[in-house]
Amino acid sequence: MATTIKLRVDGVHKRFGSFVALKETSLELRQGEFLTLLGPSGSGKTTLLMMVAGLMEPDGGNLWIDGQLATYAPPYERDIGMVFQSYALFPHLTIAENIAFPLRMRRHPSAQIDKQVRDVLELVQLPHVAQRYPRELSGGQQQRIALARCIVYQPSIILMDEPLGALDKKLRDQLQLEIKRLHKQLGTTILYVTHDQEETLTMSDRVCLMNHGHIEQIGTPNDLYFRPRTVFAADFLGESNILSGQAVSQGEALVTISSAELGGSLHAVGAHSGPLNWMVRPERMRLASAPEPGLNSIQGVLTEVIFTGGVTRSLITTAGGATLMVAGLTFEQGLTSQPGQAVWVVWHPSDTVLLPATPTQEAA
Ligand SMILES: Nc1ncnc2c1ncn2[C@@H]1O[C@H](COP(=O)(O)OP(=O)(O)OP(=O)(O)O)[C@@H](O)[C@H]1O
Ligand SMILES: [Mg+2]
Repeated sequence: MATTIKLRVDGVHKRFGSFVALKETSLELRQGEFLTLLGPSGSGKTTLLMMVAGLMEPDGGNLWIDGQLATYAPPYERDIGMVFQSYALFPHLTIAENIAFPLRMRRHPSAQIDKQVRDVLELVQLPHVAQRYPRELSGGQQQRIALARCIVYQPSIILMDEPLGALDKKLRDQLQLEIKRLHKQLGTTILYVTHDQEETLTMSDRVCLMNHGHIEQIGTPNDLYFRPRTVFAADFLGESNILSGQAVSQGEALVTISSAELGGSLHAVGAHSGPLNWMVRPERMRLASAPEPGLNSIQGVLTEVIFTGGVTRSLITTAGGATLMVAGLTFEQGLTSQPGQAVWVVWHPSDTVLLPATPTQEAA
């Protein structure tokens, strides 16, 4: 079955005065997909969302919603729902009236509206608050009502701009799961914005990583985590050991990299030449008492052991002066290793991710 494209963004760009907030950007959102825009503050996430919503006009490029050209269509002609960080419920309307509002605007019959409101309140698990006013609800409950008001008229696409940003951690975790559940249950297509990486990994089918107004990388959470394509992507998502190096020889499957920072050389799967960066996730490395055949093995001194509950992180200083972080389940390590001790850090060549050189390395 062909996948239906709900939203197509094609070369859309935006500047404010001389400042480029969004470079030419293209992406597609599939039917039923949960796509997250992730990126640092000011990277252009909200700007892109505002243009999709029709609240801001692009300087160029085009938008298609359900196959219809919508670049300059007014917001009310787009079948799009929005939930923002501030829940913005109408304070003078009850919860039921708030939820009914978009249905009344669309002239649904009254009897049908009452049922829809009851159903959606069940869905967000707040059937008992229908007659209350927004001020009589907690922040998390208000956010759930904002969500209910958005999903009640079943828009084709829902845009959410940091909808959980104002909530405390526990509530955020709970609502993350709830949004995920609603997404599954209703099959809605969602374009979600956050700068919380954990939230991204929990929620998304695909992630669009933004950096300085452009798409740095787009892919599944797994892709971004295990196969980042740039130093920025490797650094932004999760913990990582990122070091520089130089590809010195090329074998059939393995490339040998010499790394001054590491004070040794290592192997990676793939082909490369010249300066580069390489990355290994801390949990893909492990401590050993001797080098191990077939694995990258680097000697160093254990400088710190950090217990964080289930996971223990060890910091190792290498001969080249670099610090490596190795992470493992607490019961598997940390019992025999003491700071000051000489250790080996070992990892499989296939866990070495090759990254392009940065401009300063290229210039050197
Ligand atoms: N109306 C505006 N006028 C001028 N500059 C703007 C305007 N709106 C956004 N910008 C600038 O465009 C850039 C991108 O802003 P945007 O709001 O899209 O970032 P963001 O990725 O959503 O960041 P955050 O995570 O902080 O919400 C920022 O540098 C911002 O200052
Ligand atoms: Mg924003």
